[in-house]
Amino acid sequence: MKEPIETERLILRELVLSDADGMFELDSNPNVHLFLGNKPVKNVEQSVDQIKNIQQQYKDLGTGRWAVVLKETNEFLGWSGIKFITNEINNHKDFYEIGYRFIEKHWGKGYATEAGKAFVDYAFDVIKVDALYAYADAGNEGSRKILEKLGFRYVNSFEYEEELEVWYELKNPNS
Ligand SMILES: CC(C)(COP(=O)(O)OP(=O)(O)OC[C@H]1O[C@@H](n2cnc3c(N)ncnc32)[C@H](O)[C@@H]1OP(=O)(O)O)[C@@H](O)C(=O)NCCC(=O)NCCS
Repeated sequence: MKEPIETERLILRELVLSDADGMFELDSNPNVHLFLGNKPVKNVEQSVDQIKNIQQQYKDLGTGRWAVVLKETNEFLGWSGIKFITNEINNHKDFYEIGYRFIEKHWGKGYATEAGKAFVDYAFDVIKVDALYAYADAGNEGSRKILEKLGFRYVNSFEYEEELEVWYELKNPNS
């Protein structure tokens, strides 16, 4: 297991199977899935399978989404992190992407931005990626705001799975 990352208020660590209840609270909420194709999960077994799938990515690809936990209470807030994407999206293939998803009651406290900053540093300094990418539904104002706060540059809009998406890029200043 990789060493967790600590920020001012958060612990970022690899997902474990005991995060399943938190993942279920996160992914069973239709509001969370509004800009994600709107297919909330129906039972906790789906969340267990998702965690297993992410753990397999850690093994196969060396990275994947991590749990975001509140330092003060040890509460599971959601996930963020760097995923290696092997399928083709917006003419890119085999690229590193940043993402985030939080339980609704924890929105609006700056957690996505705080975790996102730490993962940008991790991607550039530890994984040593040349560039990070992100994409979001064009209407997902919250997600776009976070990307801009993290220093990402809007590149283009494109259609993906019948939705209008926006594509962002951040180059590693050290490469
Ligand atoms: C999008 C999401 C991750 C934001 O998380 P968060 O922790 O509330 O974000 P932050 O508090 O760090 O907010 C960052 C900025 O975005 C703004 N913001 C957040 N949600 C917003 C919304 N729905 N509309 C407009 N602005 C929004 C915040 O006001 C903040 O700006 P500020 O610092 O100028 O005030 C969260 O709402 C979420 O999990 N949504 C569902 C999953 C999702 O859409 N993930 C992204 C897929 S691409």
